[in-house]
This record gives sequence, C-alpha cells and structure tokens, in this order.
Amino acid sequence: MNPGKVLKKPWAKVRWWAARLDPKRFALKQRKRLAATILKMKNLPARASRTLSNPLYDFVERHPRLFVLSGAGISTESGIPCYRDTEGQRTGRAPILLKDFMGSEFARKRYWARSMIGWPLVAGAAPNAAHVAVARLERLGIFERLVTQNVDGLHTSAGNTDVIELHGNIGRVRCMECGNETTRAALQQTLIADNPSFVGLAALPVADGDAQLEDYDFNAFHAPSCTRCGGLLKPDVVFFGEGVPRTRVDAAAAALDQADAMLVLGSSLMVYSGFRFCEWAARAGKPIAAVNLGRTRADALLQLKVEAPCGPTLDALANELELEREA
Ligand SMILES: NC(=O)c1ccc[n+]([C@@H]2O[C@H](COP(=O)([O-])OP(=O)(O)OC[C@H]3O[C@@H](n4cnc5c(N)ncnc54)[C@H](O)[C@@H]3O)[C@@H](O)[C@H]2O)c1
Ligand SMILES: [Zn+2]
Repeated sequence: MNPGKVLKKPWAKVRWWAARLDPKRFALKQRKRLAATILKMKNLPARASRTLSNPLYDFVERHPRLFVLSGAGISTESGIPCYRDTEGQRTGRAPILLKDFMGSEFARKRYWARSMIGWPLVAGAAPNAAHVAVARLERLGIFERLVTQNVDGLHTSAGNTDVIELHGNIGRVRCMECGNETTRAALQQTLIADNPSFVGLAALPVADGDAQLEDYDFNAFHAPSCTRCGGLLKPDVVFFGEGVPRTRVDAAAAALDQADAMLVLGSSLMVYSGFRFCEWAARAGKPIAAVNLGRTRADALLQLKVEAPCGPTLDALANELELEREA
C-alpha cells in the first residue's frame, strides 16, 4: 500500500462519491459545494490530489468514529525501543513475569537494577510527530476513544485528554501491600542513593524502561520498599502473566462498541490484550486499518494496511483532515 501514490484522475473519484450521495441526507448547499470542488480539482491542486490518493484519509473520512489502538511502534520515533521487529519476532530477552517478580527477591533486584539504568530513557523521551498528530486527530473529534498499550505516557504529554492506558503507566509505582502510590521519578532518586555502585553502568536500553544489563551481581542491588509500610513496590504497569484490570478492558470494549471502525497504530498485536480488540471488531463487522511497519497478528483481519512509519503518515493525515475542515 502506498499512501503517496497519486491518482491519474482524482476528480473521477470525487464524481463517483458525488453520485453515491443520497439527496435526502445531503443538503443542496453541500452538493453544490462538492460540485465546485470537482471543478476546482480539474486543475489538480497539489493538496487535493494528495488527499484523494491517500487510502488512510479515505478510511478516516468514511469512518469518523474511530476506536484507535496504539502500541510500542508509535514511540520508536521518540527513541523508545519496541519489543518486536518487522517480522513480529521479539528482539530482546523475555520480559519479566508477574509470578517471578512477586515470588523471587533476586528477580526483583535484577528488575530494579535494569530499570534504574533503563528508565531515564523513557523519562526523557518527548512525544514525536505521531503522538502530536494523534492529539490533533482527537481535537478534530474523529476518535470514539484512544486506547494505548504503551506505558510511556507520551499520548498524554502530546495533549490527548482521554486515553485508556491498558497496561498502566511506568511513571507510577505502587505498594503491593498498602496501595500507596509514588512517582517513578522520586523512586529513581532512592534507587540511585541506595545503589551508588550501579550508577553509570553502560547498558543497551530495551523496551519498557528496561536495560540489557547482564552478568552483574544483582544480589548486591538494594531493591526498594514502601516508605509507609515496608511492602513490596511494583511499577504501575501490567506485567506479562498479569491480567489487565477489568474496568479498563470494559471501558475500551464499550468504546469499541460505539465506534464504526478500528485504527491500529504501531503494534504487532502479538500480545493478546491488544489483539482481542481486533477479534471483537472483526466479529462485529467493523473494518480495521493499521499503520505498522511489518507483520501484525491481525493482518488477515485488516481492510487497510499502511506499511509506513507512524510519524510522517499520521502527520500527513492530520494535515489533510485539518485542511479539509478549514475549507
Ligand atoms: N513505549 C512503550 O510504552 C512500550 C515500549 C515497548 C513495549 N511496550 C509494551 O510491549 C507490549 C508490546 O506490544 P506492541 O504491539 O505494542 O509492540 P511490539 O513491539 O510487539 O510491536 C511494535 C510494532 O511496531 C512496528 N514499528 C516500529 N516502529 C514503527 C514506526 N515508526 N511506525 C510504524 N510501525 C513501527 C514494529 O515493526 C512492530 O511491528 C505492549 O503490551 C506494551 O505495553 C511498551
Ligand atoms: Zn506500603
């Protein structure tokens, strides 16, 4: 699929659309405006020809109440690595499982040591063109709801006001005993103060605020505990082997119910927690489009696949829609 492909006769497509308009639903004024647009387009202004050749734009125009699901691929242009490559294969080591984190002190020490090195990358990341475009799309009112599998909080930083963070937010930490919540930024200071010998270790940053720190004596790491009750601290993210809180799934499912189509942005959909929304959308007969570099688990269910980077693709889409709204 090439979103940049220019149609030879774009006005023919508008004529085709015009012919399908139901006179009962479209006022005379609107039809006159469309006719004027067709005439203008015969001169092939650059903006209009781009618009008509963009299948993603067409998809959004046809389905203005979108259920949007984003994944790690939307944040790679902010410098945060994703889990999987374009073939859908995991690139780094397996992420920690909930039962290991809860059941093994060594696993917790290793987790927090790696997190102390890897977290600053997420904390310092800024929204990229894709996040900014998604916030612009929300302002245009075409979202039924934005749901993200990401834990980096970048949609909110970009200005989205109503995002469901399915897997939580890595900027928060929660005590598993008393429920006390603190910020991950404050905890970083504690981790550094308690573990000076781990400060400044060079390690490759990997997905989820983690770092590829191997062959260290993790037993020497001082894992954090709750300042209120001494309980075990866990980042406020859904680990593998942990269920997504029911209220979040229900809120997302209700939004999907109201939407007329689904749009996936930067996700391999290999994790079932995201893939299930595609299954539900397909079952309900709602078309699904995806902007993703490479294979997704839902390829067979997609009506439209744009294999292009999220940043420029969504920026172009937001530009087109804003121009169209201004016209
Ligand atoms: N930024 C984050 O918060 C973050 C980062 C890594 C992992 N995770 C977690 O990992 C899980 C992984 O699932 P997932 O499907 O979200 O990620 P994933 O890593 O499985 O898939 C990401 C997909 O995005 C594609 N991609 C990469 N850069 C892209 C770009 N610029 N434009 C378009 N596509 C691009 C990749 O080829 C891949 O197919 C999620 O549950 C999430 O919680 C979160
Ligand atoms: Zn506590």
